[in-house]
Amino acid sequence: MLSDFDALKEHFADSSGLHSLDALDMTRIPRHISCIMDGNGRWAEARGLMRAEGHKQGIVALREIITTAVRLGIDVLSAYAFSTENWNRPQHEVNLLMHLFAKTFIDELPLLKRENVQVRFLGDIGALPKKTRDVFEMGLAECRQHTGMVLALAVNYGGRAELVRAVQDLAQLVQSGDMRPEDISEAHLAEHLYTANLPDPELVIRTSGEMRVSNYLLYQIAYSEFYITDTYWPDFDRWELLEAIYAYQQRQRRFGGLVSVSNTPA
Ligand code: IPE
Ligand code: IPE
Ligand code: MG
Repeated sequence: MLSDFDALKEHFADSSGLHSLDALDMTRIPRHISCIMDGNGRWAEARGLMRAEGHKQGIVALREIITTAVRLGIDVLSAYAFSTENWNRPQHEVNLLMHLFAKTFIDELPLLKRENVQVRFLGDIGALPKKTRDVFEMGLAECRQHTGMVLALAVNYGGRAELVRAVQDLAQLVQSGDMRPEDISEAHLAEHLYTANLPDPELVIRTSGEMRVSNYLLYQIAYSEFYITDTYWPDFDRWELLEAIYAYQQRQRRFGGLVSVSNTPA
């Protein structure tokens, strides 16, 4: 039986990768890594392909990042798949994405089972087309017993909408007399976000070189470290995930203080 680290080495077994893996401090792997999976369309366009091909290849990339994250012992992997603003895209692209989300969840159920992945959705899933919603609900039920890494998929997610929803929930509690306005704390607000009970991401990765947050996890990324790469999401692979973690491990996190706080998971 291979030890976990041997299995991890095997997962990265090729010359370029072994070096990066050895450079990592395995005691300081982030608990929560979050990916803004951007650049599918440009990846396709650069190859003279339809944008749809980029989205399909983006799913292949996500699969590799999921299996790698499990092997690295990451607790939470979150991924931005569809924003509240992505409804503004041409209808045929929205339809394609909704179809791909449903198809992928079904296709990847064996992988999610094999890897014991817990699945969560961040976002207003109730507003998705019925077929996609039904598949998501079926898939969630299939994964309910899993106890491993949490895969949090942000679909129809917007950070502002999430905050408005949380404020509405808290206002209801105040109106019903269950809470006083002065008792509302950061912790209470966090409990009413889609990410309730998940640690904040220590590391946010954005592909395709864009230097913006695009309405993602606005509350949760207050002190996250960012890794921005020009790589388009379909080309983001296990080696570059190591690069991102390595870059994270070189950062000094001060949280507003003057001393660097260890980025060892709590
Ligand atoms: C990210 O790739 C996937 C989604 C937003 C659904 P894009 O579709 O945004 O690709 P680009 O940014 O146009 O290249
Ligand atoms: C961010 O990408 C959303 C997702 C990756 C799902 P976008 O392509 O929608 O972001 P903008 O429009 O370039 O800011
Ligand atoms: Mg984009």
